[in-house]
Amino acid sequence: MSDNSNSTLNDTAKADAWIRDHRDCVKPRYRLDYHVMPPVGWMNDPNGLVYFKGQYHAFYQFYPYSSEWGPMHWGHAISDDMVHWKDAPVAMAPGSTADRDGCYSGSAVDDDGKLSLIYTGQIFDDGDIKPFNTEFSETQNLAVSEDGIHFSKYAQNPVIPAAPSDNSRNFRDPKVWKHDGRWYVVIGSSTKDNEARALLYSSADLREWKFESVIAHSEGKIGEMWECPDFFSLDGKDVLLFSPVGMEPEGLKYHNVFQTGYLVGDFDYASGKLQHGEFEEVDRGHDFYASQTFEAADGRRICMAWMNMWQTPMPEQADGWAGAMTVPRELHAVDGQVRMTPIKELESLRGPVIADVAAPLSNDQVLAAPKENRCEVLFSADVPADGNSKIGVSLDIGTDHDVSFTYDAALGRLTLDRGGEDGVRAYDCGKLEKLDLHIYIDRSSMEVFVNDGLATFTSRMYPATAATIKAVAPASGLNGKVRVYALNAMR
Ligand code: FRU
Repeated sequence: MSDNSNSTLNDTAKADAWIRDHRDCVKPRYRLDYHVMPPVGWMNDPNGLVYFKGQYHAFYQFYPYSSEWGPMHWGHAISDDMVHWKDAPVAMAPGSTADRDGCYSGSAVDDDGKLSLIYTGQIFDDGDIKPFNTEFSETQNLAVSEDGIHFSKYAQNPVIPAAPSDNSRNFRDPKVWKHDGRWYVVIGSSTKDNEARALLYSSADLREWKFESVIAHSEGKIGEMWECPDFFSLDGKDVLLFSPVGMEPEGLKYHNVFQTGYLVGDFDYASGKLQHGEFEEVDRGHDFYASQTFEAADGRRICMAWMNMWQTPMPEQADGWAGAMTVPRELHAVDGQVRMTPIKELESLRGPVIADVAAPLSNDQVLAAPKENRCEVLFSADVPADGNSKIGVSLDIGTDHDVSFTYDAALGRLTLDRGGEDGVRAYDCGKLEKLDLHIYIDRSSMEVFVNDGLATFTSRMYPATAATIKAVAPASGLNGKVRVYALNAMR
């Protein structure tokens, strides 16, 4: 199932017809239910997340014609509540002069009733459309829609034709917002010396842009290129959230191919600089990348990310699709840290309670066996006073290794272990007296929120059977309680 022919270029109608004809060929084995994912084919980054005229729009990097990355289109899904999503027609296909080889990541804003997409146009020098082909040029472009469904690319694209002269070729993933009546955009880039940085431009009309400043840069420590930067105010602080490429593992940190994290500080529009603290990863699991945030109707700052990682195995590719977004998460800045918790709207998915278990929990005690591996787990326990217990949950998914999420009191360490090669991700959160886990499971994904967002772990997993969820507890038992909800099917 693959069509690379040039006739696909700039043709959203052809992409929609392909999807109609091929969506039933996708195998259900690892399909998710309440997560945004492509109807068929490949997806990576969330793009253009926005609330527009009473609905939520989620666009994404999309190649409908194969379950591998290819010339990037913008897929599109729409929701009234950020939980129930419906596929919309493909919003953009590549092939115009400025985006010949791909419509790369970008963002969306409501420009006085017009849904406006600002995205990167990709052109490879040799026309060879491959991931990690390093000979390319990138510009920023605009597309506009009156109805939020059909988009016209701006005739005078690109709107930002070139990066500053000391820039490398990397110049992509524009994220736009409005401040004091003026548009601002932050763009991911690096210098010719591979110093990663976030560039700031401003505009009165989204069409003519002026370079302002370098908001922040790697200082030789935070990778060699920043993808998908996002910049916003949160609880009185300013946050730069981005995905650095090129960081090496350091202790328990930075074990994914690329990372996603943030700098928290204070931004001064006059100088264009962010005074900030240290870089922190925002999620500690295997599969969280290229996050983007937006403001919900009531002003909450919501984040979604690609729930996969570049250059890692994606078993669903054998089934005609690849990639999903995380559930939407509400962000808060607490003590210099960005915390994520699942949005409250997800509670509307709750079906019957399939486990309601109170103390004492014993090790390996079966808690629930959700049908189709789709459930929400609320686990709460006192960390035993002996100071050396391991507590949490495990999932028997019929593979040769259980998936588990535990807190090791002796080490003060949270660990997600999904088995297999490179199965462990861990974070030293320090001493806890209580462990609260809020876990969303959706067949091939697990999103764990610890103690109200103190830490978050997001990983894909590939079950052979529906999961049996068990307690991990010391021999003396665990003072805790667990409630598991089956979640209603949406698809
Ligand atoms: C991040 C990224 C972006 C780029 C897009 C291409 O995952 O590499 O920098 O715009 O994916 O699909």
